[in-house]
Amino acid sequence: MYELSTNDEKIRELLNIETPIVLEKSIINNNSSSLIKNILNTKNTIESYEQTKIQLENLYDSLKDIFDYAKVPMELRDRQFLNKTGFAMSPANAITTINDVFRVSAFVRGIDKAIKDLKKIYKNETLHVLYPACGPLAPLLIPLLAYYKSSNIYNENDFKVTFIDIQEGAIISLNEILKVTNLDIFVKDILLMDAVDYKTNEKIHLLILEAMQHGFTKEGHLSISKHFSSLLDKNGVFLPQEVNIDAILTIGEDEYNTQWKDKEFTNSIDIDKKIFKKRVVLGNILKINLGTLKNMKILNLDENTKLVKCATLTIPNFKNEDNRRIILFSTNITIYKDEVINEYDSGITHPLPNLDICINFIPQTDKKKTDLYVKSGDNIIFYYKLVGLPGFLVTKENR
Ligand SMILES: C[S@@+](CC[C@H](N)C(=O)[O-])C[C@H]1O[C@@H](n2cnc3c(N)ncnc32)[C@H](O)[C@@H]1O
Repeated sequence: MYELSTNDEKIRELLNIETPIVLEKSIINNNSSSLIKNILNTKNTIESYEQTKIQLENLYDSLKDIFDYAKVPMELRDRQFLNKTGFAMSPANAITTINDVFRVSAFVRGIDKAIKDLKKIYKNETLHVLYPACGPLAPLLIPLLAYYKSSNIYNENDFKVTFIDIQEGAIISLNEILKVTNLDIFVKDILLMDAVDYKTNEKIHLLILEAMQHGFTKEGHLSISKHFSSLLDKNGVFLPQEVNIDAILTIGEDEYNTQWKDKEFTNSIDIDKKIFKKRVVLGNILKINLGTLKNMKILNLDENTKLVKCATLTIPNFKNEDNRRIILFSTNITIYKDEVINEYDSGITHPLPNLDICINFIPQTDKKKTDLYVKSGDNIIFYYKLVGLPGFLVTKENR
């Protein structure tokens, strides 16, 4: 039984009268098609950035309207929490991730290429695509689905998608978006659950996961990846194919201020070569791909604390112009084949400084219990914490 107001909505829908929802549906489908055509025909360049940004903002406006129409209760919109594998961002904040231009573009092209390749391997099968931690707008897939449908490139027999999110508000929003746009034909399941508890007896051909913040912190990307690495079919594809995190010593002022002061936005193409050359690269501290995930050893310290031992690196001697080199964690991501998101291209690959590690100096003021004092010649060990707020822990090796 519908309430009176809902009933009016329903009748207008049946009469196919131009309602806000009917308008929104055609705007989303049209905007998605032009956005995806543009993304598939370009690369991540300074020239492509502006147009894609405007198109994403337009699409965001319409999807945000559906998010509002979905009437996610206020307490669910703003609810955020830590769970056993990481931070679950509130739906109100998570809707904005669609505006991260180079991230969305690289994923869209990567997913499109991966589906093409998988259709050649699994010729007569309906592909099962899994998108855990998809957020309230599932922005890496929804525009592609709209484009595939409107241009008849793929239909519901080509693939079905299982969407998973731990936030009830995200699931309410997603159900509404898929229904309004008629993209629900592509849906296998929409699940409200912690992704690491997902089990299935069916094949998974394609996995799309992005649950990280800069410096590979906060969200549960590693735990979720580890869980799904053993569920993926033998010839299946896991996107991103590889995530690399490097530890780098740099001069903070050059790195974060000088090199960006005349630039509209940060990106890997505009990295200042002179400043880049002055960096001291300690080395790779974590590489995540299907091979490393399968062989990854997890140390259980207690019920709620798990660690992955990542790398032991030596601090070299270096010229220290102002004696204040900071350590930063830099992320580079291969989404699929030549589709990459490099450092500074996205919010998730913005290098993260760790100001608790003092190299070749001891602070005179503002000392903290969490500080680590190290010097050239010391070996430092990098661990990854699988806790409510995941991230790196750095310790000094005992001699
Ligand atoms: C920043 S959003 C990312 C959305 C999307 N992946 C994208 O690319 O824009 C993170 C989403 O992951 C969800 N999430 C975090 N940890 C999760 C978990 N363990 N299981 C399921 N969903 C999770 C959060 O609820 C949130 O909606």
